[in-house]
Amino acid sequence: MSKVKEFHPFELNSERIPQAFLMKEISLPKHFYIKTMGCQMNAYDSDSLAQAMIKDGISPVNTPENADIILLNTCAVRAKPEQKAYSFLGRMFSIKKENPDLILGVIGCLAQMKALDLIKRFPEIDFILGPRELGRFQEVLKTVEIDHGRIVAAGSNPAPLRPEHGKGYFEKRVAGYVSIMEGCNNFCSYCIVPYVRGREISRSPHEILIEVENLLTAGIKEITLLGQNVNSYLWDGRDKKWNFRVLLDELSRLDRLLRLRFTTSHPKDLSDDLIHSFHDIRKLCPHIHLPFQAGSNRILKLMRRGYTREAYLELIKKLRQVKPGIAITSDVMVGFPGEMDEDFELTLDLLRNVEFDSLFSFKYSDRSGTSAEAMNNKIRDSVKAARLSVLQDLQKEITLKKNKELEGKRLEVLVEGKSKRGGQLTGRTVSNKVVNFNGNNSLIGSLVTVNIKRSFLNSLRAELT
Ligand code: SAH
Ligand code: SF4
Ligand code: F3S
Repeated sequence: MSKVKEFHPFELNSERIPQAFLMKEISLPKHFYIKTMGCQMNAYDSDSLAQAMIKDGISPVNTPENADIILLNTCAVRAKPEQKAYSFLGRMFSIKKENPDLILGVIGCLAQMKALDLIKRFPEIDFILGPRELGRFQEVLKTVEIDHGRIVAAGSNPAPLRPEHGKGYFEKRVAGYVSIMEGCNNFCSYCIVPYVRGREISRSPHEILIEVENLLTAGIKEITLLGQNVNSYLWDGRDKKWNFRVLLDELSRLDRLLRLRFTTSHPKDLSDDLIHSFHDIRKLCPHIHLPFQAGSNRILKLMRRGYTREAYLELIKKLRQVKPGIAITSDVMVGFPGEMDEDFELTLDLLRNVEFDSLFSFKYSDRSGTSAEAMNNKIRDSVKAARLSVLQDLQKEITLKKNKELEGKRLEVLVEGKSKRGGQLTGRTVSNKVVNFNGNNSLIGSLVTVNIKRSFLNSLRAELT
């Protein structure tokens, strides 16, 4: 196995780049393939790296078999995405057997969590790059290419940088993401994110505005602001203090922007001011993703979420008073250590009470190094599975009922492209529901009004008015 280099942040400087690189022209690989397994933040990171490669003359391909560079952007939030990463890597290793010149990079949250383990166990991996090291991607790639060494960069760089984002790459898209902050300080007892993404850090409003303008110039009409906890966005500028509300106000003034969204907000930090922005800011879509995780105060406390069931329900009430009809979606988990039948009943009761528009639900998964991992009274997988299935059945009824209420209604849709099954156009309502309908391709990128004809669990069928 070739020698592994371990880089401390800032260690990779020009001295480490071999002279050969500076002296002679190198022939770069020509095609890349990226597989993204994580959340929107990971998708955003993949986009940044894709743009960097395109800028360097490397073009994307749809199958890993045709690529010279393969990147796997991993997620570590539960055991399932972790297993998926290993099985994908297995497939990539067989491709590499056929094509030993292939460069294989593992990036993202699992890469950060298991950096040394991965590089030691798998000689096929050429480099590992954690989320806070993405700014050095091009440098790392060139170094791997030239001296065929292997690189691990998994530091906790306090000021994450990325290759330039937002120019020229998004031409065929209508909706885009912009990261406004990185990391998380909350340390919910079950969660690995603060360990792999580092402490919270907000990006400067200047940087955010430039990126949003770039996307708008590329034709993007809807922007979703991303962060693990967008409510704690804070930037102490020379002119003023920018909190999340100030940022929303400023961005909503951009003429070419039609719709603004954000995700995710933490219930403990959802201020009245932010709730009122759903009333005050016309371009802010009436949809909030507000993870509640559990309906029992005892479990919420063990999770270290920092709010009670009652406080959460109060927030829902306020949101609905300020913006009647606002769509509310959430995350929940079943089988947290010590969760009893009574606790689970309280979660079901909260579902019935709130009637979420849709819900992401998970079985609790032990993450190594978190405080929940060390807790007693772990729940058997069969119990978790049974609870998840009851909960998902209940939510299906609620989602379908809410979608059925939309039949016969006229709704505004931002047309995003052709539907998956082809033939039709597809777009989303302000409340983030997927709508499919017949129409001309020239409508892509514009706002249209449709009549909802039939509602299903995951989409609505409509006709143009
Ligand atoms: N920052 C977001 C959540 C990011 S992780 C927030 O706080 O709302 C996305 C979701 O994954 C979480 O909301 C939670 O429901 C789930 N999750 C996180 N850690 C988990 C674990 N150890 N087991 C199961 N689900 C988990
Ligand atoms: Fe994880 Fe909690 Fe931070 Fe969300 S707020 S990323 S659940 S620690
Ligand atoms: Fe996202 Fe998974 Fe990392 S949810 S922040 S990619 S651990």
